[in-house]
Amino acid sequence: MLIVHINGGSGREGLEAEGATAYSRKRRSLPRPRTFHDPNPPSSGMSAPERGALIVIEGLDRAGKSTQHGRLCQNLESQGHTVKRMRFPGASPCPHVYALTHNTEDRTTPIGKSIDAYLKGESQQEDHVIHLLFSANRWEAAASIRNAIAEGTTVVIDRYYYSGIVYSAAKGNPTLSLEWARHPEVGLPLPDLCLFLDITPEAAAKRGGFGNEKYETSAMQKRVRELFYDLVKLSDGRGMRILDAGRSIEEVEKDVADRVEEVIKSSRMSQELGSIPP
Ligand SMILES: Nc1ncnc2c1ncn2[C@@H]1O[C@H](COP(=O)(O)OP(=O)(O)OP(=O)(O)O)[C@@H](O)[C@H]1O
Ligand SMILES: [Mg+2]
Repeated sequence: MLIVHINGGSGREGLEAEGATAYSRKRRSLPRPRTFHDPNPPSSGMSAPERGALIVIEGLDRAGKSTQHGRLCQNLESQGHTVKRMRFPGASPCPHVYALTHNTEDRTTPIGKSIDAYLKGESQQEDHVIHLLFSANRWEAAASIRNAIAEGTTVVIDRYYYSGIVYSAAKGNPTLSLEWARHPEVGLPLPDLCLFLDITPEAAAKRGGFGNEKYETSAMQKRVRELFYDLVKLSDGRGMRILDAGRSIEEVEKDVADRVEEVIKSSRMSQELGSIPP
């Protein structure tokens, strides 16, 4: 029922995807679209082929990330963009959400399997070790993200290194600070935009309550939210936008769509995809 709601029950997904690919190729052969607000218009002559955008959706557990991820991907596809859906770490533990968002990544790599077992409480890992495994899980996908972007595909990720850093630092291990956790992320593809879906842990808990995975306790969520705000103050905050995720699904969806459109139409798309700086 949830799937029907999100897809609008059109049953035309296959057709739309096929049309989207052809349309996107056509678009890439044209000069980059310009907007009135573009502060750095391309110089005269041939313009470089348009690259895809790297968009990340972040937030606490139950903030509505997967819901918005699915809607954003569908909206972009319906506008003719080619989209690659990803999530970290690997597939969702909730089968309905996995089906809903059609994510292409899963926890089937050896590293992904170790993380999965850890999150489900089936295995123990030292705090630094599991952090480095989470990071390695992102590095495993780094080349495929860059390749997709270079081919003009927009990559939309449900959780990325922001969650990776913040959840590890939230454990309170004295030798695992936000700064320490950030080191192994340096050099990964830098998002063009990170939308932080902000919600209080109390409001998030009302959305069906937290599940059984390792980090889903209210004390942990409270600390995670504080650390997300600390991250916004660092260089990582430059590409981050905080959205009020306590509103209706449709209101958040509209806000997400507007922010993404701004970035896709900006001069940023004529520059190469960046890397997370030291
Ligand atoms: N804006 C909203 N208002 C009310 N309920 C919402 C809203 N957004 C999502 N929900 C509902 O909250 C629940 C959690 O949503 P969702 O799975 O998208 O969150 P999430 O951030 O991906 O969670 P997780 O961190 O567990 O993966 C779902 O039942 C979803 O339908
Ligand atoms: Mg989710």
